Amino acid sequence: MAIVDEVVQLRDATLASISEAQTSEALEKVRVNVLGKAGTLTGYLRGMGQVAKEERAAVGKTVNEVRNVVEAALEERKAVLAAAELEASIESSAVDVTQPGRAQQMGTRHLINAISDQISELFLGLGYTVLTGPEVETDWYNFTALNAPADHPSRGLADTFYVKDNTGAETAVKGESAVLLRTQTSGVQVHAMEDRELPIYMIAPGKVYRRDVADPSHLPQFHQCEGLVVDKGITFGDLKGTLDYFCKQLFGEDRKTRFRAHYFPFTEPSAEADVSCGVCDGTGHLENGDKCRMCKGTGWIEILGCGMVDPNVLEMSGIDPEEYSGFAFGVGIERVACLKYNVPDLRMLLEGDMRFLRQF
Ligand code: DAH
Repeated sequence: MAIVDEVVQLRDATLASISEAQTSEALEKVRVNVLGKAGTLTGYLRGMGQVAKEERAAVGKTVNEVRNVVEAALEERKAVLAAAELEASIESSAVDVTQPGRAQQMGTRHLINAISDQISELFLGLGYTVLTGPEVETDWYNFTALNAPADHPSRGLADTFYVKDNTGAETAVKGESAVLLRTQTSGVQVHAMEDRELPIYMIAPGKVYRRDVADPSHLPQFHQCEGLVVDKGITFGDLKGTLDYFCKQLFGEDRKTRFRAHYFPFTEPSAEADVSCGVCDGTGHLENGDKCRMCKGTGWIEILGCGMVDPNVLEMSGIDPEEYSGFAFGVGIERVACLKYNVPDLRMLLEGDMRFLRQF
């Protein structure tokens, strides 16, 4: 076959391959096969020297024409494929703007933190300082400096989580005591009296630990808020007025308070404060005459422990009880939560069930 015919055949085959190429990659392969360094058409151009003189002009002309035609066809096909590929990529990465968004789960403040914060706010408003003490304590801070007798039952292994062994009363000397998880926030009173200038007006909310099995009314870990005032001329009247205000702020202006004599090692006199029952309005019975189950018919609900700081306690922390007096109180946060919101089981406060927690 004459070379010119060969080249024309090559042209037709190449144009066919070009229009069949479905991707830019396939098209590039066609280009390399024909026009690349070792390409078929390139071969004809390189081989011009060997072509007989009389044919040379015609072959040269044809090869050039074919090259131009092939290059133009390649360009055209390339543009078509590029446009199609761009479209496909836009389509595949498209975002459906009509699809509903994924809703963010909004958390809520846990009831315990909310009440603890409410108590802090309330006392900050009265000019108190909010302190935190260590949860891991020595028995000096948790018991001894609070006037707890050496044989006080709460010191026992059955009630207290000991970190370092409970070596008993002999070692209950400041600095060389047993180490334990605090069973009450009252130890912060001792830290405050040691560390702070007088007068002291402070509260200390935080976690406490007791060796109890969790049941509807006990938890091995719960929260208390301690309060301590030490100043000149503090009386039981200051205690009553402050705690009455506290209860009214927490439970409602219409609530009444009463103080019953009690015993705590670190206060003298000691009392338990009751707040009038919110369910029966302090009457002890419901409108239909039934006994109120909330307060068991008494009209009162116990809410906190309190008292005048025992002079021994002041003295142990280096404060002259002739010059200063004070009052202290301790309130259980979980207890307040349960009373305020009628929570029937303390364990619900720990379980993290969103259906329960979202209500607050
Ligand atoms: N710490 C006591 C308890 O855990 C509560 C308490 C009672 C604290 C009387 C006080 C107080 O500050 O004066 O049961």
